[in-house]
Amino acid sequence: MSKATFDNRRHNRTANTEFAQILQKRLKRRTFLSAGAAAAFSNGFFLAGCGGSTSVDSSARVTVVESDNAARPVEPAVVDITHSELGFDSIPGSLADGVSLPPGYSGRVLAPWGDPLFSDSRPWQDDGSNTARDQALSVGMQHDGMKFFPVDGNSADGLLCVNHEYVDPWRLHADRISIDSATGHRDDIDQARKEINCVGVSVFRVSRERGGWKVIPDDSLNRRYTAATEFRLAGPLALSEYAVTRYSPQGSHVRGTLGNCGNGSTPWGTYLTCEEHWPAFFVSKEPTADQIRMGFPNQESKHNWEDFSEHADQLDGEFARFSLAAHADSAQLDYRNEANGFGYVVEIDPYSASGVAVKRTALGRFRHEGCAYGLPEEGKPLVFYSGHDGVFEYVYKFVSHAVWDPSDAQVESVDRLTVGDKYMDHGTLYVARFDEDGTGIWLPLTLESETTRGTILGEHFSTDADLIVNTLTAADLVGATPMDRPEWTAVDPVTGSVYLTLTGNHRRGEDTPIDSANPRANNEYGHIIRWEEVAGGHSFKWDIFVYGASANDSVEVNRSGLTLENQFSGPDGLVFDERGILWIQTDSSGDAVAEQTNDQILAVIPSANRDAQGNQDPVADVNNSELRRFMVGPGGCEITGVTFTPDSRTMFVNVQHPSNWPYSENASEITPEGLQLRARSATVVIERDNGEQIGL
Ligand code: FEO
Ligand code: CA
Ligand code: CA
Ligand code: CA
Repeated sequence: MSKATFDNRRHNRTANTEFAQILQKRLKRRTFLSAGAAAAFSNGFFLAGCGGSTSVDSSARVTVVESDNAARPVEPAVVDITHSELGFDSIPGSLADGVSLPPGYSGRVLAPWGDPLFSDSRPWQDDGSNTARDQALSVGMQHDGMKFFPVDGNSADGLLCVNHEYVDPWRLHADRISIDSATGHRDDIDQARKEINCVGVSVFRVSRERGGWKVIPDDSLNRRYTAATEFRLAGPLALSEYAVTRYSPQGSHVRGTLGNCGNGSTPWGTYLTCEEHWPAFFVSKEPTADQIRMGFPNQESKHNWEDFSEHADQLDGEFARFSLAAHADSAQLDYRNEANGFGYVVEIDPYSASGVAVKRTALGRFRHEGCAYGLPEEGKPLVFYSGHDGVFEYVYKFVSHAVWDPSDAQVESVDRLTVGDKYMDHGTLYVARFDEDGTGIWLPLTLESETTRGTILGEHFSTDADLIVNTLTAADLVGATPMDRPEWTAVDPVTGSVYLTLTGNHRRGEDTPIDSANPRANNEYGHIIRWEEVAGGHSFKWDIFVYGASANDSVEVNRSGLTLENQFSGPDGLVFDERGILWIQTDSSGDAVAEQTNDQILAVIPSANRDAQGNQDPVADVNNSELRRFMVGPGGCEITGVTFTPDSRTMFVNVQHPSNWPYSENASEITPEGLQLRARSATVVIERDNGEQIGL
C-alpha cells in the first residue's frame, strides 16, 4: 500500500537518539566479513524440503495431474551458488498497461482476484455481482506476499500461498457502499461480509500441465483465511488478560487476519503471513496509550464494519469487535481487547487444511512487513527478522531459545506447527540501533532491559504479554533507531547477510535529522540497507547496499550511479532465491522514476561482488550494470511476492492494484487504448521459452 504511510512521530513522543546531522555522506566502500555463513548454507537444509516425499494432511485428497514432464524434469535442479552473472540484459522502463520481460521470457496470468477455488462458487463476474459466499470460496483481492510450496519436491505441482492485503471497495462491489441516509451508517451487511472475505490469505493447488500452470479447483488443500477465520494465539499474549474477549474468554483465539502484506517461510515448510496495516480496520474512540502510539483511527474505521455492531443478523459479534470501546463490566463481555490479537507474524501449514493457523506473538506486535529467517546453524538459535512499515519505525529480530536441529527441516515427516511452537514461541525479541560508524546494537526487549531513561522495561510493563502488546513503546524506551519506512527483509543464502528495504520517507530531515543509516533528507526514492551479525548476535555491521534514484538526479541523490537501465524508487518486496540472486520489487508513486516507468523487478547477485576475504561491494558506478531490470508491471500496480519452484524454472510474481489490467491471459498483452477494465490483482507466472532457469 504505497499510500498507507504512517507517521510514527505523531504518536511517538519519546526522544530517541538521533544522530548528529551528517552533511557529508559516506560514499566510500564499506566492507565486512561474511562470518562463516556460506559454511552454514552448505550443510544443505535449504534443499532438505525439496527432495523427499512431502506428506500432506491425512484427510487430503491429492489430485493427480498429468504433467508435461517431458519438457521439464521433476527433480529440483542442482542449485549453483557460485555463478557471478545474470543471463539477461536490463530491459527498458515502461508505462504500458501490460507486463514487460526480457526477450525469451513470457508471463501468463494465474489466479486473479475472484477466480473460484471451489466449483460451487460462481465464476468471477465483471459486474461486481459475486456474493460474499462466492468471495469466501475464491481468490482474494490485492495479492501481495506469496510462496510456492512443492508437493513431493515437485517443480510442476505445489501449493501457492498468497496474501491479500486490503479491500478495494469500488472494484469489489457492483454498487457504491450503501449508506442509510438517516443514520449515515452503512446498511448493507452483505457488502461488509464480502469485504471481510476478500482479505487474508489464499492457499491453493497449482499444477503445470500441458499448456502451462493451472489452479486445481476443489483440491483438498485449497482454502481461504479471511478477516473472519479463527486463529490460535501462541507466545506471550496467549491466555493472558490482554487477549481476553467475549469470543475467547480464555484469551486463546482470535478471529481474522488483516493487512497481510509481506510474507516469510520457515525451514520446516510453513508459510508466514505478516499483518501490516491492520490498525485502520479498527476504531478506538477512547484510545489507550498503546493505541495512540500504534495509530488507531479514533472516529471511524477504514471500512466502518463497526456500523453493523447492532445489526439483527450479526453473528457472535462479527462486526462489534471492530470497535474497541469498553462498554461492558469486564473484558470477557466486550471487544476492548480484540485488536490485541492483531499485528503479528502468522504461521500457516500449507500441507494441512485441517489445522488452525497460529499467531506467533513472541515476534512482536507491530505493522510487520515480511519475516525472513537467518541461515540456520545446527546447535545455534534460529533468528527471524521483520521490519515495521511506518516512517520513523524500527527493525526487529527474534532469537529462539531452542537451538536448531536440522532434523526439524524434514518437512515431510515433522509435525510442522509443533516445530513452529518450538522455535517461535519462546525467545528474545530485539530492536535495532544503527550507529553512525557502521556498527549496530540489538537492544533486547525484556522486562530486565535497561531504557534510555535509566529505568528497566519491567517498570513500564507488568508482564511479557503487556510488553508484547506494547512492543512499539518498549522499542521507543530502549532507544531504537527510527528508519525510513522498513519493508521486507531478505537473507543471502551465500553470505548470510541480511538486506532490508527502506521504501522512502519524505519527512526525513524536517524535524527528524538525517543519520548515517537514513542519510538523505526528503528520502523520496528509498534505499536498501544490509547487515551481518557479529559473533554472539548482540551487534552487527551494516552498510547501504543501494540507493534508489532517478538517473537524472545529482550525484548527491543518485549515490549508486543508477542509469535509465536500472533507476528505481520505492524498494519494497525483497527476496533472495536459492541461487543467491536478489530480486528487488518496487512500490513507488509520485516521484521522478514513477513518471518514467511503472513498478518493476530488478535483479542483482550481491555475493558476486566479494573479495577473497568476503568483503562485499555495494552497488556503485563501477559495478551498477550488474543491477538489471527484469520485469516492468502494468500501469498503477506495485510488484510483490516473487517466489520460485525448486528447479528455478518458474517464477511466480504478484501484480497488486493495477489500474487497467489484465486484458488477457498473456500478461504482456497491453490493454487497448480506450478500454477500461474492472482491474484485478493477479499472479503472473514467468518462464523461459527454452525452459531453462530464470535469470541466469
Ligand atoms: Fe504493504 Fe509495506 O507494504
Ligand atoms: Ca501494497
Ligand atoms: Ca510499500
Ligand atoms: Ca509491501
